[in-house]
Amino acid sequence: MERIQLDLSKVTLSLSSYHEEAEKCNAMLDNGTGKGNDFLGWIHLPSSISEKDLAAIESVAATLREQCDYVVNVGIGGSYLGARAVVDALQNGFDAYRSDRKNPVLLYAGNHIGEDYLYEMLDFLRDKSFGIINISKSGTTTEPAIAFRLLKDLLESRVGREGAKERIVAITDAAKGALRRLADEEGYKTFVIPDNVGGRFSVLTPVGLLPIAVAGFNIRELVRGAADMEAMTAVGVAFAENLALQYAAVRNALYRQGKKIEILANFHPKMHNIGEWWKQLFGESEGKEGKGIFTAAIDLTTDLHSMGQWIQEGERTIFETVISIARPDHCLTIPSDDKDLDGLNFLAGRRVDEVNKMAELGTQLAHVDGNVPNIRIVLPQLNAYYIGQLFYFFEKAVGVSGYMLGVNPFDQPGVEAYKNNMFALLNKPGYEAQSAAMAQRLQQ
Ligand code: PA5
Repeated sequence: MERIQLDLSKVTLSLSSYHEEAEKCNAMLDNGTGKGNDFLGWIHLPSSISEKDLAAIESVAATLREQCDYVVNVGIGGSYLGARAVVDALQNGFDAYRSDRKNPVLLYAGNHIGEDYLYEMLDFLRDKSFGIINISKSGTTTEPAIAFRLLKDLLESRVGREGAKERIVAITDAAKGALRRLADEEGYKTFVIPDNVGGRFSVLTPVGLLPIAVAGFNIRELVRGAADMEAMTAVGVAFAENLALQYAAVRNALYRQGKKIEILANFHPKMHNIGEWWKQLFGESEGKEGKGIFTAAIDLTTDLHSMGQWIQEGERTIFETVISIARPDHCLTIPSDDKDLDGLNFLAGRRVDEVNKMAELGTQLAHVDGNVPNIRIVLPQLNAYYIGQLFYFFEKAVGVSGYMLGVNPFDQPGVEAYKNNMFALLNKPGYEAQSAAMAQRLQQ
């Protein structure tokens, strides 16, 4: 079985003193003796997803696919980033503009509170056949709740309350939260997010799998890739063979040497949202107690013309992890031109990907020369199977890496700070004392 590769040859430090620590942290995850051990449901999730689970998701996806040209994925953070990352990576980037497309187009809402965006989305959907997948683990998050209320109103006005019921699916907690109450009351089809799987680790639950299946992609391949990586990074797979432990170790080694920022780079625009998913997974898991690597993501070569200068010569507190795709799906050669006015004939007959690969290699060498340690992750192809491997590799790595850092990688207490202020400012019932304190603070 081919697997993703991790190339650490451009990081000049020894990891020998980290082997034992990384293996110990992997064992802590497995035996549940570390921090946040009530959120370890993701560890054996890929290998435990049953045929029945997959069939149930595929069946609901098939109904939405039959009924809808557009499906709005309502959710924020872990409740949308995984699905968006996979769908954007796998779909033909121009399908949404084709009238003969076979798959419904996934749209996204509830991941911000931008009024114009919501207005324009509602306006667009007014005469379209659409459905909604409403995802919130807590069932109380404000951003998706506002978007869902607006979209539900529009859908009911178009197809009636009964018709809307056929086109709305809720994914939430088994028993708690406003979304569970609402879904039960309205009689929506629901899927449950397991209690012991946190939002940013939920891509292989219905949270990610349902929208991905609706968009027409093979969730079985995604799960198979993740299950293979689960086996390849399990306790007992020694450091020398265990890519997740190696990545966790190299990150911590670099961090301890003052490299405080990790930049995840891709060379294919389809991968933009894989970077967004990764940013959340690592940033939200490790950034706490005054510690943690700041995660940034860039799209290359695009951002070499914006951030390239900083990366090459700015403050030397960064390292870079490049996700490389060995074989693109298509083949495109650069044509020859008689006049050669653009001077490009030296590339005639060569593949666009060859140029991209040379840009990748040239960038790596330049950044290493500029004292930016470079880690490379190579996917043989950008398909569901290897994305499954990649996602699980990152999940296992962040668990181990967080434990090596000494934090609980599975909580996110800091996310509450803005919410509390926002609720106080909006005079939410139950926040009376905070609202009064806020009013006083703003008067000073
Ligand atoms: O990783 C997490 O837990 C968070 O990013 C959540 O996914 C995000 O805050 C959305 O929460 P919820 O699904 O409860 O609406």
